[in-house]
Amino acid sequence: MTRTDPSSRTALVTGGIGGLGTEICRQLARAGRKVIALDLASREERVASFHAEVAGFGGAIAFEPADVSDFDSCRQLVERIEQQHGSVDILVNAAGITRDTSLRKMTPQQWHELMRVNLDGVFNMCRHVVEGMATRGFGRIVNISSVNGQTGQFGQTNYSAAKAGVHGFSMALARETARKGVTVNTVSPGYCDTPMVAAVPDEIRAQIVADIPVGRLGLPADIARAVAFLTADDAGYLTGVNLPVNGGYFMSF
Ligand SMILES: NC(=O)c1ccc[n+]([C@@H]2O[C@H](COP(=O)([O-])OP(=O)(O)OC[C@H]3O[C@@H](n4cnc5c(N)ncnc54)[C@H](O)[C@@H]3O)[C@@H](O)[C@H]2O)c1
Repeated sequence: MTRTDPSSRTALVTGGIGGLGTEICRQLARAGRKVIALDLASREERVASFHAEVAGFGGAIAFEPADVSDFDSCRQLVERIEQQHGSVDILVNAAGITRDTSLRKMTPQQWHELMRVNLDGVFNMCRHVVEGMATRGFGRIVNISSVNGQTGQFGQTNYSAAKAGVHGFSMALARETARKGVTVNTVSPGYCDTPMVAAVPDEIRAQIVADIPVGRLGLPADIARAVAFLTADDAGYLTGVNLPVNGGYFMSF
């Protein structure tokens, strides 16, 4: 197998059993990657159904438990993967949570819990894979941000701050790794048809859809397609980019 053979690359997807993460795993497996979905072991039922959903990929998609908010747990995971599956060549940080409430009511716990997953989690994972990628001269990192990081959103000072931070982090890391064959980009989904958006009250969701020029919520496949594009072996000249995938909900230049 040559280094440019897509099947010689291993992709790690955090939040890999989630609404977007599952489809990202599938899309990367279709692109010939060996894929490892990382997510919380505590989601036992979902882990079981995930295994059933990806069974058709014949072992190309594996599951590994870890908590991205825990620096040591991420280190142990990356070491385990390197022993069992080989180097991590592609990292997609899709783990994320919301703790929505207006700032006037937000507790320090709601702020810190969210930061620990949505922002520290990106640091914890990148920190442990970037050295190996740089040494091998190849890496693709995609961090999932959000349109709400670009525009701000009512009730989401914590989430918007973390998601904007994810892009600042990505641009800085992109500069540090550009000469080592490692690209670092963000994908900013708009509102997608996933459990995270299903949790929004019906009338607010209807208003959101009415404001999307394309006239529908995004599909996980719309986001996964952007991730596959940015993680392709021949995408080496795209770095420090934010790729919005939002149906025209927020346009900028
Ligand atoms: N769904 C949307 O419309 C939308 C829009 C913009 C951005 N996003 C972002 O896309 C990403 C994926 O969202 P989703 O809709 O698939 O959400 P989801 O809730 O379906 O999936 C998120 C996954 O992250 C996992 N996770 C949470 N905390 C974790 C931790 N500490 N360690 C490891 N895994 C953890 C969850 O178990 C879950 O499987 C998130 O970062 C989210 O902020 C989603």
